[in-house]
Amino acid sequence: MYEHLFSSMKIGNVEIPNRTVMTAMGNHIAELGGFVSDADIAFYGARAKGGTGLIITECVAVDGSTGIGNMKQMWADDDKFIPGLKRLADEVHKYGSKIAIQLYHPGRQGIAAVNGVESMKSPSATECQCVHQPTHEMTKDEIKQMVGKFISAAKRVKEAGCDIVEFHGAHGYLIGQFDSPYTNKRTDEYGGSFENRMRFLDEIIDGTRAELGPDYPIMVRISVNEHMDYAGLPGEGLKAEDGVEIAKHLAAKGIDAINVSAGIYETMNTSWEPVSFDQGWKLGDAAAVKKAVDIPVIATAVFREPAYADKAIADGLIDFMGSARAFNADPEWANKAKEGRDADIRKCISCLYCMETLMSADFPDKPDFGCAINYESGKEWKCNAEELPKDGAGRKVAVIGAGPSGMEAARVLALRGFAPVVFEKNDKVGGQINYACKPPKKEKTGWLKEWQEHALRSAGVEIRTGKAPTMEDIRAIEPYAVFVAQGSSPVMPRSIKGLDGENVYTPVDVLSGKVSFENKKLCVVGSGMTGIETAELLGEAGNKISVYEMMDDIGPGLFFQNLIDVMTRVSKMDIALFPKHMLKEIDGTTAIFETTDTHEIVQDTFDAVIVSLGVRPNADLVEELKAEFDKVVLMGDAVKGGRIAAAIGTGYMAAAELK
Ligand SMILES: Cc1cc2nc3c(=O)[nH]c(=O)nc-3n(C[C@H](O)[C@H](O)[C@H](O)COP(=O)(O)O)c2cc1C
Ligand code: SF4
Repeated sequence: MYEHLFSSMKIGNVEIPNRTVMTAMGNHIAELGGFVSDADIAFYGARAKGGTGLIITECVAVDGSTGIGNMKQMWADDDKFIPGLKRLADEVHKYGSKIAIQLYHPGRQGIAAVNGVESMKSPSATECQCVHQPTHEMTKDEIKQMVGKFISAAKRVKEAGCDIVEFHGAHGYLIGQFDSPYTNKRTDEYGGSFENRMRFLDEIIDGTRAELGPDYPIMVRISVNEHMDYAGLPGEGLKAEDGVEIAKHLAAKGIDAINVSAGIYETMNTSWEPVSFDQGWKLGDAAAVKKAVDIPVIATAVFREPAYADKAIADGLIDFMGSARAFNADPEWANKAKEGRDADIRKCISCLYCMETLMSADFPDKPDFGCAINYESGKEWKCNAEELPKDGAGRKVAVIGAGPSGMEAARVLALRGFAPVVFEKNDKVGGQINYACKPPKKEKTGWLKEWQEHALRSAGVEIRTGKAPTMEDIRAIEPYAVFVAQGSSPVMPRSIKGLDGENVYTPVDVLSGKVSFENKKLCVVGSGMTGIETAELLGEAGNKISVYEMMDDIGPGLFFQNLIDVMTRVSKMDIALFPKHMLKEIDGTTAIFETTDTHEIVQDTFDAVIVSLGVRPNADLVEELKAEFDKVVLMGDAVKGGRIAAAIGTGYMAAAELK
């Protein structure tokens, strides 16, 4: 299958077995102090075993003392790191894949406290508008030293037996900061003209060539387009035509491949995209590079489906499909594609849980790095469902609820040789996912349900839909254990008068299509993701919406990239936002609020009020079940109304730990 995707191609003199490239992905699983960990070996090994042609590691620090992004990242600034990198290369080579090490320094996008420095290095003292760290203009001495650090790190990459070195010039990190006129305001020979801005990278490449010889493959990742319009700064930074010039310049210098990406921290949503960005949206810029250079072009463009990637290669737009998240969500993406098993691929839904957990991973009270839909991501060294004991011996397990949690549990139970019977009261499986995929641009979320249902049907799991199970139904299968994954219901606090009024609805009423509104005046109470997205759906239908939120800001607790994504669209609609407003009462068509700071009473009339104040676990049958069966396990929303990652994680673990 997919003859273009699965033909080999050389980068320099290194033959890459196919055109799938796992682009760099920080994962916060290295040892403290920069050493390759067992977790790294298992993480990358799983993707190599899964048939990925080329694996590029996370960005590796060339200067651990001033240039790390987080505490558990790999470093290459000393020979003591060579054995770990060698072990990693050997692991990837074991499966026939090739490995590149990505070298970087974060510059102004690093955190001073994490690095133990007073200010971050950068070509100019321009503070990043995302991380807001003190930043200083590098002296020429600092520049020379930094060039040397990149070169000596590249030497270690070669010595460790890795196939390729990649310099990270994309996403607004130090190399990109020199390349871009947005961040490089220098007036000496390292700033100003194109030639001067390229000098830092040129010196790194020249020095590396001189040290490693003409044959060792060098790649550079660049943000061809910094999309500063996305940050409200049109005309600033690198535009596609500038990026193409950089690519031409680098090709002329003799690098062996170019890896095309986009964006800087201020425009991060164009680098690692939230759910609303379509597959292929930035392919045009990659194709422009491909047209301009005669070296292999790797590119990311939200590639999720093998057919799409194969066609992009067949059409001559790119040479290699790049993705980090496709392979994070499914390490076997490549092998499944090669075998034409497209439906078996667990496609990344672009939810950005991986980035959210990466960014907060240094905080002890936050979850570890992971993938919302692949519980094993980052934990491959200790978690592999295929290797769990196959001791189910056909014993029945009643799984109540076919939402993400119940279906994940049933999948893992089936792998272990149990015979799960899944009971779902609704006509179709998927639980909350059926509603979460309804707002504009959220179709990808529905991929999870499709994959889970496919996985269960392929494993021959019995799924009974359309009727809530009674105790009799559960008794009848004589279950060895009962898994309760029956989801959640909207919170409707009794303390607020009027919530039982006839013009009061829940988001599910709207998202399920039970009610619809056009050209009405509507009120949405609560601005979590469900509230905002419901408002967006209603806004699209021409309604005039007011969103009220009790907290100080709209979208409390939401990952900022996802909030920016939805607000970029919402801000163009007829939607007014009222943070710091607590709902007191609904009186007929009037909604009454109290402001949380000045304690004023504010009220307005609406055609309907949609109350989105969160969810609470459904607990039907739980006590009865516990009284009758020894093994009753609660999971997903049945424990705590929450997110996909928690649903999948509790389902996976319940099935893995069943004794
Ligand atoms: C959690 C996470 C970490 C990333 N870390 C890096 C990195 O270290 N270096 C890099 O060049 N890109 C990094 N990226 C960007 C990816 O390589 C890729 O370009 C991006 O995710 C868009 O492609 P995709 O949606 O197909 O994965 C990261 C992305 C994510 C989601
Ligand atoms: S966490 Fe979400 S965005 Fe990241 S790889 Fe998994 S599905 Fe994709």
